[in-house]
Amino acid sequence: MDRTAQLTARPAQHEIAYDPPTGPQATASLHVRAAEVLEANWTGTSTVPSRNLYPHQWSWDSAFIAIGLRHISPLRAQTELETLLAAQWADGRLPHIVFNPSVPLDAYFPSPDFWRSSTAGRAAGAPRTVQTSGIVQPPVHALAAWLVHRADPGLSRARGFLARLHPRLAAWHRYLLHRRDLGGAGLVSVVHPWEQGMDNSPCWDAPLARITPAPARSFRRADLDHGAPEDRPTDLDYGRYVRLAADYRDGGYRDGAGGGHGAGEGEFAVEDPAFNALLIASEYALARIAEELGAAGSARRERAERLTATLTERLWDAEAGLFRCRDLRGGDTLVPERSVSGLIPLLLPALPRDIVAALVRTLGGPHFSLGDRTRLVPSYDLLGEAFDPHRYWRGPAWFNTSWLLERGLRAHGEGERADALREAVLDLADATGFAEYVDPYTGAACGATGFSWTAALALDLHHRRPAPRERQELDKSP
Ligand code: SER
Repeated sequence: MDRTAQLTARPAQHEIAYDPPTGPQATASLHVRAAEVLEANWTGTSTVPSRNLYPHQWSWDSAFIAIGLRHISPLRAQTELETLLAAQWADGRLPHIVFNPSVPLDAYFPSPDFWRSSTAGRAAGAPRTVQTSGIVQPPVHALAAWLVHRADPGLSRARGFLARLHPRLAAWHRYLLHRRDLGGAGLVSVVHPWEQGMDNSPCWDAPLARITPAPARSFRRADLDHGAPEDRPTDLDYGRYVRLAADYRDGGYRDGAGGGHGAGEGEFAVEDPAFNALLIASEYALARIAEELGAAGSARRERAERLTATLTERLWDAEAGLFRCRDLRGGDTLVPERSVSGLIPLLLPALPRDIVAALVRTLGGPHFSLGDRTRLVPSYDLLGEAFDPHRYWRGPAWFNTSWLLERGLRAHGEGERADALREAVLDLADATGFAEYVDPYTGAACGATGFSWTAALALDLHHRRPAPRERQELDKSP
C-alpha cells in the first residue's frame, strides 16, 4: 500500500477514537518538518502563505500562521501579527493582502497597481508607506493574538504586545460591526468572495451570476503559472472577482453602511456564517485581552452572545441542520447550498444545545460524512451538484476549517470526534507535504505544497495533546 493510501484509507470504526502519538521520533519529526515550512516561508517580518502562489502577506493566513508559530518562536508569532496590523487603514479595516515591495509586480495578480491603495484608498485612510489590497478577510486576529500571548505571557507583557495590539483590534472589529452591517440586523457582510476567504465556493454562484465579468483580455492571472488549472477557480470566476474589486476601488473603497455610495450599494453583499462566527470568537478573545490589560471584558462577552443569537436568527436553517449564507442583493434570501462555512459556528460557546447537536449530526451525515467517507471536513456538500473534489473551495478539504471544527467539537464535549479530526490533520498534513488542500475522499494533495497555515495548524495540534473527552471552553482556553 503506498504511503498516501495507507494514511488516507478509511479507518475502521474502532480506530476513530483518539490514539496516543505514535512515538517520540515520529512526533518530533512532524514538528521539524512543519517548522521547516514556516522557516522557508518567513520573510523576516512575516510569513508568505506559499512561496510561489501567494508571495505576499495575507491577513487570515497570518492569523493562523501566528497560532502555529507561537510553538516555535513566540516573538516571531507576535511580529507576524504586528506586521499585519501596522498596515491597518485609518477607518479600521485590515487589508487582506500587505504587499512586499521587493516582489515583482507580475508575480501575483491583482498586484498593487490594481488596488492602488495609497491613492484610491486615501479617503478611507490607507497607509502611505505600504501598499495593500482594499478588501478584508475573516477576523481571526484577536483570537490569534490571545493564543500567541498565552504561549509566553512574560515576553508578551515585557514587549507590551497586547497593549499595542488592543486598540487596533478594537478598531478592526468596530469597522466590521459599524461599516459592514449592510443588512442592518447586526451581522457583518462581505462585499467580495475573497473577503470570506472561500473564493469559489458554490455559495457565491448565484450572487456572482449577477455580476458582469471584466473582459478576459483586461487582466492576466498569475496563479496559473504555479497552480494546476483544475485546482483553481475558473477564468469566468476571475472576471467577476476583478469586476467587483475594480468597482469597489473606483468607489474609493467607501462602505455603504452610513457612508453613502460604495459597497453598501455594491452588487455583492452576503452575510456569511463562518465570517461572523470568527468575529464572535474574536470578540470573546478581545474580552480576555481587555481583562488581561486591566479593563472590563463583560460588554464584549455580552455582545458576543447577542451576535450569536442574531447569527442563529438570521442564518440558521433547522431543516438542513446547518447555517446558510444570506444573499442581501438576491432578495435577502438564504443561499440553498451546504458549505463548511455553515458548520463553523460550532466554535461558539453560547450556541443552543439543539443547534450543536444538529451540527454534529450534519458533520457526520451524508453531506460531509466525517469519520465515515472523509477524515477531514470537505469544503462543500459531497452530494451537491457543484461538488468537485479538486477545485479549491468546491469540495476539497482544507486544514484551517478542520482546525476550527476540532476546537468546536472539543468545546462542546465531543472529545472523540475532535481527537479523530486532530489525528487526521496531523496525518494528512504531514503525508501531503503540508498541502494547501486535499481531495476529501483520497487525501491526495491539491494546490500548493509547503503551505504555511497547514504547517502552522498541524504544529498547533501537535503541541496541544488533549486528553480524550477533555472539555475546552473556547473563550478561556489557550
Ligand atoms: N485567495 C485569493 C487568491 O487565490 C485571493 O486572496 O489569490
